[in-house]
Amino acid sequence: MDKLKIVGGKELNGEVSISGAKNAALPILASTLLTDQTMTISNVPHLHDITTTMELLGRMGSDLMLDEKLNIEVTNNNINEFFAPYEMVKTMRASILVLGPLLARFGEADVSLPGGCAIGSRPVDIHISGLAAMGADITVDKGYIKAKAKRLKGAHLILEMVTVTGTENLMMAAVLADGKTTLENAAREPEVVDLAECLIAMGANIQGAGTDTIVIEGVESLHGAQHTILPDRIETGTFLVAVVMAGGKVKIKNTRPKLLDAVLSKLRAAGAQIELEDSSITVTMDLERPRAVDIHTSPFPGFPTDMQAQFTALNCIAEGNSTITETVFENRFMHVQELQRMGANIKLEGNTAICNGVAKLIAAPVMATDLRASASLVLAGLVAEGETIVDRIYHIDRGYETIEEKFRQLGAEINRMPA
Ligand code: EPZ
Repeated sequence: MDKLKIVGGKELNGEVSISGAKNAALPILASTLLTDQTMTISNVPHLHDITTTMELLGRMGSDLMLDEKLNIEVTNNNINEFFAPYEMVKTMRASILVLGPLLARFGEADVSLPGGCAIGSRPVDIHISGLAAMGADITVDKGYIKAKAKRLKGAHLILEMVTVTGTENLMMAAVLADGKTTLENAAREPEVVDLAECLIAMGANIQGAGTDTIVIEGVESLHGAQHTILPDRIETGTFLVAVVMAGGKVKIKNTRPKLLDAVLSKLRAAGAQIELEDSSITVTMDLERPRAVDIHTSPFPGFPTDMQAQFTALNCIAEGNSTITETVFENRFMHVQELQRMGANIKLEGNTAICNGVAKLIAAPVMATDLRASASLVLAGLVAEGETIVDRIYHIDRGYETIEEKFRQLGAEINRMPA
């Protein structure tokens, strides 16, 4: 397994460009199943999860083409299989996102249950109950979700929890359903809005994306379209935190500042100077150490759970004490024991981490356990005294495009060590 070797203590300066958002690209690639015409998707990040999704579509009969500018052209006029096998779904839970489109367009789907992952049990009961309410004959048998529907019917759904992919799956199911579907308590994440904008470009009738109530009027069919994936707000946030921890001045380009209000206000509280332009953020950190900031995660527009691990690393070296409360997932603190190995003074009480900032972390061999935890270990390595080795970085390759190259461009001493 590849590892990352990081020698800490270097300031970060210069410019870095943000890639397209993984969590928008995944549902939007799945949405191409909703039409038999060609879709052109631009600004798709070059990530392992994207490759997995393309393999999954390919095995169903999808015709995929990558052009020289890394735009993906997808044509699904020859889908002959409605099956998402466990071997693929277990490596990427987001494969569940083919369930809604397959049912909506073909009336059948046989999709493996994703199973849990490191950060939690991550059930998909809300996806399933929503589709059943729309008239799908849906059962779970031997680890597979088996669903059939002559034609889904519009329904009034009140989602019992805010679920991002649940909202996305049900929205994609509803766009070809017979009648109107209302999704109440819908997720408001920008990636949900990006998916809705893509579906609308394909001819869907959707109102309210980005609010907690989305109304979809089903149509007979959808046509092809072109869509550019929005920038990755979590990659943006990760680089912002890196500069606030390591010091320096960096311009983060090709991003969308207004997607990061909750993160930016915490970074200002930590002592960062932030300048915003339309599609860039310049962050300057000239304090010796960041100030500690309390974090409480919640669905958008609250503080994103996908930024919790990164801020936990920041608080480990901050001036002062802080609490970090994780309300979205039940087990999203596995980075804590690794940070403790690097000298962090942090302890867990239920779903809250209590952190007393220390002046210095000490480099150590650490192990990545999930995507954002691995990012927090890279950040810790950038500031730790000595050489940190982060193992199992296939986790990080799922969500960050060439992270070590981007950090090296900014002055970090970070290299990939092939297995
Ligand atoms: C999406 O996961 C993201 N993944 C996650 O990003 C992100 O952390 C999460 O939303 C929260 O923002 C993608 O978009 C591909 P949820 P998702 O359904 O949709 C419970 C990353 O690092 N729940 O919003 O799977 C669930 O257990 C990844 O990029 C049910 O109980 O998350 C959790 O506690 C990690 N039943 C809460 O809701 C359901 O049917 C929120 O989960 C669905 C969810």
